[in-house]
Amino acid sequence: MSAYLLRTAEESDLDAVMAIETSVFANDAWSRDGMSGELAARDTWYVVAVPDDDRDHVVGYAGVLAGYRTGDADVQTVAVAPEARGRGLGRTLVTELVAHARRRGAREVFLEVRADNPVAQGLYRSLGFEEVGVRPRYYMPDGVDAVMMRLKVPATVTEPAPAGGPAPTGGPAPTDGPAPTDGPAPTPAADAAATPAVDAAHDPEERP
Ligand SMILES: CC(C)(COP(=O)(O)OP(=O)(O)OC[C@H]1O[C@@H](n2cnc3c(N)ncnc32)[C@H](O)[C@@H]1OP(=O)(O)O)[C@@H](O)C(=O)NCCC(=O)NCCS
Repeated sequence: MSAYLLRTAEESDLDAVMAIETSVFANDAWSRDGMSGELAARDTWYVVAVPDDDRDHVVGYAGVLAGYRTGDADVQTVAVAPEARGRGLGRTLVTELVAHARRRGAREVFLEVRADNPVAQGLYRSLGFEEVGVRPRYYMPDGVDAVMMRLKVPATVTEPAPAGGPAPTGGPAPTDGPAPTDGPAPTPAADAAATPAVDAAHDPEERP
């Protein structure tokens, strides 16, 4: 089984992202122009999952809209190619979006999910999202309701290192990038960072 890592999506990932998008979202895939705009927009951040030994091969992606210090954020999308599912990638991708939203100052993260998508709903619930409403017939042309969900982003808690004790275990997974500036937090992010076979590469802090 491949090990995976996460990296910030680049414009050159557009073809690979669209290949997954159009195969996974049969009736409501975003257009290429729409996705291109998402990748380039100032307040969105997209992350892709790639095999550690083939970093141009995108097997999953996710994006969040998080204006700096607006107080909230919206999960835009998440998708994992069918052959890479069930290994924790979806959980890790969404967890990275939440971590990014926290770094941008968000206290709440919102999303909409199709009412007929119990797998994605299960993923979000397992990460602490709660149902806060329904938008009837939101997804067209299918006429499927959207379930609106919200996560209250837990505050970051920094704990002192144990004096003279053994090196801590279970912390953030090894990264390619610089050490994260946030301390470990009692959030799904910390759990997901330790997901086997997934290395989450954090990006430097973004500033508007
Ligand atoms: C939703 C999706 C991203 C999950 O990706 P994944 O990599 O398979 O997810 P993970 O392996 O991280 O699983 C995380 C959780 O999702 C849920 N889940 C995943 N596969 C599931 C399945 N076959 N049946 C039920 N729940 C499932 C579980 O809650 C799981 O947690 P658990 O492993 O503790 O039980 C993926 O199925 C997908 O791309 N689906 C199509 C696109 C989509 O629906 N996107 C969401 C749009 S709102």
